[in-house]
Amino acid sequence: MACVANCIWYWPIKGSSSLNWIGYFAHHLAKEDPIFKRVRESAQLNNLPQHEVSPLQGKLLSFFTSAIQAKRVLEIGTLVGYSTLWLAQGMASKGSLVTLEISKACAAIARHNFKLAGIEEMIEVMEGPALESLKSLLDKNGDPFDLVFIDADKRNNRMYLDYAIRLTRSGGIIIGDNVVRNGEVNDFESVDPSVLGIRGFISDMGSDPRLLATAIQTVGLKGWDGFSIALVRK
Ligand code: DHB
Ligand code: MG
Repeated sequence: MACVANCIWYWPIKGSSSLNWIGYFAHHLAKEDPIFKRVRESAQLNNLPQHEVSPLQGKLLSFFTSAIQAKRVLEIGTLVGYSTLWLAQGMASKGSLVTLEISKACAAIARHNFKLAGIEEMIEVMEGPALESLKSLLDKNGDPFDLVFIDADKRNNRMYLDYAIRLTRSGGIIIGDNVVRNGEVNDFESVDPSVLGIRGFISDMGSDPRLLATAIQTVGLKGWDGFSIALVRK
């Protein structure tokens, strides 16, 4: 029990003590560097939604960028840059990461956070609606991305996926956040635009011949959710 007690370092675990084992894994496998904690807490300090990934899921993002030695990463939805830190942590040295953020205020906080973390040189924050930034990235016709992480407004996920496929190299990976939404994705009475957005996104992923896609459900410190993961084969 001593370990479990020590593991509640992140935030009080929701509901019952049956979720305490998650603290155990997070404690051993996804300990946050102090700067990560500071960045995470900047959302709360600025009265922003605390929608960041949990540390174990962040570690999975590092795992992927590290496994494929990603040099170019695209993130759709920055917020305060917490998942950006995890993505960047696994990247090859001299890599670059482009992150898209609609809110000027969030973009400013994220830029400040990237300076604090000493990674500002590798990060470009593109401010504005993500669909506009994606169009301009496509028009620029730059080098393709090795990995795209989709974590913005869910109602536009289908279009984000379409852009992500076009902007990613063959062999690259597209990850989507919040695809389970506490099981709501399977509630066919739901009229929540986010749920409908995720559902269209999942069905597109399953039927697109350019993708080899799956989903993993995760129980993190923030409850039940999941990532979609797709390999691009063009
Ligand atoms: C929501 C969005 C997120 O990206 C997230 O990680 C959690 C919740 C939301 O829109 O509710
Ligand atoms: Mg998310």
